[in-house]
Amino acid sequence: MWKVNVLSLFPKAFPGPLALSLAGKAMKSGIWTLNSIDIRDYAQDKHQTVDDKPFGGGNGMVMRPDILGAAIEDVTAKNPGTKLLYMSPRGMVFNQAKAVELSKENNITIICGRFEGIDERVIKKYQIEEISIGDFILSGGEIAAMAVIDACLRLLNGVIVKNSALLEESFGGGSFHSYLLEYPHYTRPANWEGMSVPDVLVSGNHAEVAKWRLQKAEELTKARRPDLWGKYKK
Ligand SMILES: C[S@@+](CC[C@H](N)C(=O)[O-])C[C@H]1O[C@@H](n2cnc3c(N)ncnc32)[C@H](O)[C@@H]1O
Repeated sequence: MWKVNVLSLFPKAFPGPLALSLAGKAMKSGIWTLNSIDIRDYAQDKHQTVDDKPFGGGNGMVMRPDILGAAIEDVTAKNPGTKLLYMSPRGMVFNQAKAVELSKENNITIICGRFEGIDERVIKKYQIEEISIGDFILSGGEIAAMAVIDACLRLLNGVIVKNSALLEESFGGGSFHSYLLEYPHYTRPANWEGMSVPDVLVSGNHAEVAKWRLQKAEELTKARRPDLWGKYKK
């Protein structure tokens, strides 16, 4: 079973959308499990304080190392060998390769920051890997953690019944190259609002369909993602 522990100041945010659809079914059938932990439970004063002003001055508050540290000690004692991650705009940007890597871990723990983030010494002491979901700032790590969890768990055996579906997605690395965005999709009705679907898709010629899809995937990637296009051409 793939286990994810989440450390958050808003533990009720979980499982949220992760309880729906395929992810929810997989959770019910025991393919993965989620343990949502309230960092505030480790606070030591009657106000359950978890943050304080930054040394050196400046805006906002910082999550205290002693409180977060106690939560990490507890989760690592209960989950020996768990991989520690911190959702952080400073981290390496998450991608499909990282999702594959994390889906192969048995047990991961994701720390969700709030305020200005967490005390740097916690990252150092527990050698926590920082992961960003992109070059923008969210209010907290919860939504970012959900994105990471969702991307990982759909790679687990049994979550998506037809595994070939994964290979043909953008970044999938299957019959379509891992650096290509996915081709466009169409379904019934064949004519909608005066627009018909490309003839090749209703031709029944599988080789021509594959050729068309590759061509469209290349066109889209070239137009939208010059970074991926450069890697693909190499
Ligand atoms: C308001 S943000 C803190 C931003 C931080 N002061 C900075 O400028 O890098 C609060 C928390 O949201 C989460 N967060 C925000 N943007 C994120 C992103 N792009 N990827 C992952 N986590 C993010 C992190 O856990 C962060 O500690």
